[in-house]
Amino acid sequence: MNESDLARARALVTEAARIVAFSGAGLSAESGVATFRGATRDSDASAPLWTRFDPARLASPEGFATDPETVAEWYAERRRSVQAARPNPAHRALASDGRIVNVTQNVDDLLHRAGASHIVQVHGTLTFDRCHRGCGYRTPVDMADPPGLRRCPQCPGRLRPDVVWFGETLPPDVWEEAVDACAACDLMLVVGTSAEVYPAAGLIDIARAAGAAIVVVNTEAGGAAGTADLELIGPAGEILPTITDG
Ligand code: OAD
Repeated sequence: MNESDLARARALVTEAARIVAFSGAGLSAESGVATFRGATRDSDASAPLWTRFDPARLASPEGFATDPETVAEWYAERRRSVQAARPNPAHRALASDGRIVNVTQNVDDLLHRAGASHIVQVHGTLTFDRCHRGCGYRTPVDMADPPGLRRCPQCPGRLRPDVVWFGETLPPDVWEEAVDACAACDLMLVVGTSAEVYPAAGLIDIARAAGAAIVVVNTEAGGAAGTADLELIGPAGEILPTITDG
C-alpha cells in the first residue's frame, strides 16, 4: 500500500464536511458474502455469484414468473448466508463516522449490524419481503429461518424479496435520497464496486459533477477508478480503518 496515497486519503476524509460512501459487493466480500463480478480474495464462499447462476434467470421478473420456487429457494440460501456473516472492519469503519452517508448497492444488512446510522440501499434489502403484484404489503423476514414461496396475505399476489431485479426500476424515493446525498457531498468513497451497473454507477458522476473528490477503494485497479482523484488498491477491510476516524 502506497503510504502517501493513504495519507492523502486520510487528509481528504479529515477535511470533508459531507462524505458519501458508495459501496458494492466488495464491501461485504471479507465477511464471506459472494460478490457478483471480479476476483475475490477468498475461495468458495465468495466465488463470484455470476459463475454459479444465471442472474437474468433468477433475479428478474421473468425468472420469478417462470420458476418462482427456484427463485424463492435461491433467496432463502442467500438470506441464510448473509445471516451467518458478520460485519467486517470496513463496515465498522464506515459506520463509525457520523458524517458518512452510506449509499450502498448491497442488499445485505451488514452496515446496519455494524451500527451505521444513515444507510440508503438503492437496490433494496433482503431483510424484507413485499407483494410482487404491488398491493403495497411489506413484511420483515426471519433471516435465520427464511420463508419459501408464499402468497401475499392481502391480495392474490406472491411475496418476493424487497430487492431490485434485472429490468426493474429503482424505488424513486430511495433514488432521490441517494442523488441528493451525492450531489451534496464533498468527498465520495467508492468502495468495492465494479461500477458497471446503472443507474447506480451514475451516482459517482453526480458527486464528481458537484465538485466532490472521488477516492476509490478496490482490490483491483481500473474499473470504477476511471476518473478518480485517488485509487487505493487493496481490501476495504484493511484500507478503510486506516483512512477514517473509526
Ligand atoms: P461486483 O461484484 O460487480 O463488484 C465487486 C467489486 O468489489 C469488484 O470491483 C472487486 O474488485 C471488488 N472487491 C472484491 N473484494 C474486495 C475487497 N475485499 N475490498 C475491496 N474491493 C473488493 O459488485 P457490485 O459493484 O456491487 O445489482 O455490483 C453492482 C450490482 O450488480 C449489484 O448491486 C447487483 C448486480 O447486478 C442488483 O442486484 C440490482
